[in-house]
Order: sequence, then structure tokens, then C-alpha cells
Amino acid sequence: EIAEQPKAVADTLLGRIDTTGRLTLDEVRIPAAVLREADKVVVIACGTAFHAGLIAKYAIEHWTRIPCEVELASEFRYRDPILDRRTLVIAISQSGETMDTLMALRHAREQGARVLAICNTNGSTIPRESDAVLYTHAGPEVAVASTKAFLTQLVACYLLALYLGQVRGTKWGDEIQAVVRELARIGDEVERVLETMEPVRALARSLAHKDTVLFLGRHVGYPVALEGALKLKELAYMHAEGFAAGELKHGPIALIEDDLPVVVVVPSPRGRSVLHDKIVSNIQEIRARGARTIVIAEEGDESVAPYADHLIRVPATPTLLQPLVATVPLQVFACELATARGNEVDQPRNLAKSVTVE
Ligand code: AGP
Repeated sequence: EIAEQPKAVADTLLGRIDTTGRLTLDEVRIPAAVLREADKVVVIACGTAFHAGLIAKYAIEHWTRIPCEVELASEFRYRDPILDRRTLVIAISQSGETMDTLMALRHAREQGARVLAICNTNGSTIPRESDAVLYTHAGPEVAVASTKAFLTQLVACYLLALYLGQVRGTKWGDEIQAVVRELARIGDEVERVLETMEPVRALARSLAHKDTVLFLGRHVGYPVALEGALKLKELAYMHAEGFAAGELKHGPIALIEDDLPVVVVVPSPRGRSVLHDKIVSNIQEIRARGARTIVIAEEGDESVAPYADHLIRVPATPTLLQPLVATVPLQVFACELATARGNEVDQPRNLAKSVTVE
């Protein structure tokens, strides 16, 4: 399923972009009035889908200027969330059967909010109970650890965010088209990443005896770090944690010790350069304390090379789209490390593909 991702992301885009680069999201046209009038977006999801939601927040707020909250579905209804008819709730779920997400969406609808589902499974419960649905068309995902569902959820979220920008007029047509063009190329970029994964596999095998791996990121690289850590927990049964790199000195830096592997997701130097420079100094800080730095950086970004014990290159993308390429090496890393440890990667212990109980 990791290898199926180039096709899966292409399938998510299929039929949703016209020849001029305009978005034609027919399936969400029905609630277009809601989309136009919404004054708040709330994303509800669990696990990997929650990480997709965290990334969606950056895109939605940046492109539409609508405030967006992201909440674990399992926490949502227990805190008496503020919802009304002008709240657009986005429920993200691969299976469409996750009980926590379903209960959260029912709660949202009871409060009068409109719910749009981003889902992979046709006719499943979550889309049936939503006001509209955007299917990811990733094809059946069988492995318990979500991979292609994640990338396609991201693509769906970007499409939706751009569409919101289109119907609300917060983005110019040519700006939308520029992002859409980048999205249309992303399947090929993911393919390129997959073709260069042998060093990542070798690195993963060499770390099979380790107990802990940390993951750091900033901005959209932070949810990518969380997702990398989740994959490693699920597949390799290792202690893995993702942090926002800015939080390091507020605690996690105390964990750094000699030869501790730390994966760092570096944003493009061309986009938000402040962000990039901050993370380069984070890499220096942890390396000075003995960390073994595994750096994921864009092709051509030479500034990180002196501080990277292992450098993993990903194609250049706009900052907001980087998770589509930066997550792939982390999936491969977890899969290979788990295999080296003798684990069953498609059927990890204690986990079920869809969590239909609370
Ligand atoms: C992902 O690797 C996990 N198996 C899990 O976190 C999953 O993403 C979560 O349970 C949500 O599932 P859903 O997308 O089917 O709702």
C-alpha cells in the first residue's frame, strides 16, 4: 500500500480538476451555501486521520482565513464543544466505521452543525450520516497501519480547502490553479521518493536494536513527525514520539542522549525561511547533545548537510504540500524496521483495522 500511493493520490484528484485547473467538487456542491457561510471549521478524526486533520488546519486557515480547530474525535463530545449551523465539521475516516468519529459527528449534527465526511469506504456509516462526502478513492486499505489513506486524505483536504477558498473568494483563481498544478504533479513526486528509498531501508535495518526514536517537525512538519512516530509504534512496537521542534527546550531535549536517533522534518528553505532556519538550529542543538540526526530535507537544501548524520532527500514542493512527500520515507522506515524486528507489518499485535468500539 505504500507503493500504491502514487496511483492513489492521482485517483483522489481524478475528475475533480477541469482542464483549466478549476476545481469541480460536485459532491460538495450541495452544501456550498454552508461552505460560503461557515464561520468556523472543526475537524474530528482519530489516529492517522487526526494527523491529516492537523495538516488540513494549516491549509484551511491559510487559504480561506476561516478559523479551524482539530480535535480527537474521542475527546470531542465530552467537552461540550461550541457548535451551531455556521460550523462546518469535517469528519475524516478511512473506514467510515470508527465509533469515536461516528459519535462525534452525531453530536455535531445534534447541535445543528453541518458535517462533511472525507472517507475512503463507499457507503460506510460515517458518509451515510454526513451532509456531504468527499471520497478519497484510495482503493481498499487492508494493512492495519494507514499509509495510502493518509496521503489521499491530505489530497482531499487540500482540494476542499482550495474549494472553500474558491467559493468564498479568498483565493484568486490563478493562485488556486498554481496549487492545483503542484497537486497534479505530486503522484510523480511520490513515485520519485519511493524509487530512492534503499538507503532509508538500510538505515532502518541498522536501527532495529534501538529502543527509542524521536521525531521533530515544525508547522506542517509537526503532524508529519507525529505520524512517523505513530507508524513506528504500530509496526515496530518501539517507543517513538513526535514533537514540535519549538517545544524541545520546554522539556523533550532532556531525552537526548548519545546516539539516540532523531528524525527531523525540515521545511523548504524557499517558503517560510524563518521556519527553516529555526529547525536548522534545532538540529544543531540536538546534535551537540549526541543525537544521531536523520534529516528529511528538500533536494538542493545544502544548509542542513553539515548537521545530518543521515540525509533523506525529498522533492521540492510548496511548504503546505510537503507532508505528501515527507511522510513517505517515514512509512518505509517504520515498515522496514518492523520487518527487521521480525514483526508482521500488515497485522500488528493488539490492533484492529477499524475501531468500531469506543
Ligand atoms: C493508523 O495507522 C491507525 N491504524 C489508526 O490510527 C487509524 O488511523 C484510526 O483508527 C482511524 O481510523 P479511520 O480512518 O478508519 O477512522
